[in-house]
Amino acid sequence: MSIPFFPPDLFEQDREVLLDLLHRIGTAHEQRFILGEHTARFEQLLRTELPAADVIACATGTSALTLTLRAMGVGQGDEVVVPAFGCAPLASAVAELGATPVFTDIRPHTMVLDPDLAEAAITPRTKVLMPAHLFSVMADMPRFTALGRAHGLRVLEDSAVAQGAVLGGRKAGTWGDAGVFSFVQVKSFGMPGEGGAVVTDDAELARTVRLLRNHGQDGRTRFLHHRIGYNSRFDEIQAAFQLHRYDGLAARLERRARIAEYYTEQFTPLADDGIVPPPTGRDGRCYYVYTLLADQRDALRAHLRARGVETHVYYPLPLPRQPAFARFAPPGRRWPQAELAAARILSLPVYPQLSDAEVERIADAVRAFVPSRQLADQEAR
Ligand SMILES: Cc1ncc(COP(=O)(O)O)c(C=O)c1O
Repeated sequence: MSIPFFPPDLFEQDREVLLDLLHRIGTAHEQRFILGEHTARFEQLLRTELPAADVIACATGTSALTLTLRAMGVGQGDEVVVPAFGCAPLASAVAELGATPVFTDIRPHTMVLDPDLAEAAITPRTKVLMPAHLFSVMADMPRFTALGRAHGLRVLEDSAVAQGAVLGGRKAGTWGDAGVFSFVQVKSFGMPGEGGAVVTDDAELARTVRLLRNHGQDGRTRFLHHRIGYNSRFDEIQAAFQLHRYDGLAARLERRARIAEYYTEQFTPLADDGIVPPPTGRDGRCYYVYTLLADQRDALRAHLRARGVETHVYYPLPLPRQPAFARFAPPGRRWPQAELAAARILSLPVYPQLSDAEVERIADAVRAFVPSRQLADQEAR
């Protein structure tokens, strides 16, 4: 039996609750399906738990980035420092507002935005620094918040993949002037659909994001549009489902962390053979997926597939090499660490539904690659 990269039964355990919510909210007298009491309670729960002064639930993590950048006043002619390696919305959310994503290289092992290079990328046009937590590691938020203060810039912390991670006692999403989460199904606090949130202690920023998520209306007077906004509203059934699932989140995150610890323990001796696990420890780690670096990534991937272990390559190209963002890649500029990461990165399954036996099977399959690779090298000679 093959082990899929993401679990095929994501919400099976909560099936009855979900069906009941669908029926209850679907047939309730008020017929309220977006931005109702469940969304308000979900926002309140996150506010208390993070803690943060405000949380605004919205349609997607991408939309959370757009709303926040707009609320920070980013527009034509502005620059936003973003990692050269990561998901497309890091660049598209900036570009869509007429601003320029300034691609900046990453650190070689952790693969998150390099704060020294980010500082060097600051120009008089820079408005926002936008570090993103990547697949096993949070960005160096103490450095980025210090940089933001020193240069008078806003810091937008992309925590889309890092819900529940903690760095220096402070939760992901609460470090920047604003942070964002994604709740798309496979994320650590995913749900059966799309959703996101903006987290901030800045009351004015929160007020603007709230207006922008619902066509510029303030939630009191309908059809009075204070700003040109978006339709980025949150679903009531999903909010109720998240309220239900929050209780199990800590245990699910703990299971992910333990699986990751086991992998790292098993893979650390493979470093000389070209397989490098993420940094050890618990501080600033987020295990949405478990990501290692492999010199012979494609061969390792084929080897694992042959043994029934599915993997993912996030991402096969650095952002400046994507056709969509080529115009933001100044000629001659290079992002060597992002290139290396794209060539070597490989993500393994790390979801809490994996049994111990499956976890061992995955780790054994990775470890078995080393002798088989050496044999293949000998045969090639
Ligand atoms: C780092 C990062 N930022 C933003 C997003 C966008 O989130 P969403 O898919 O909810 O729009 C993602 C999505 O995968 C992501 O990985």
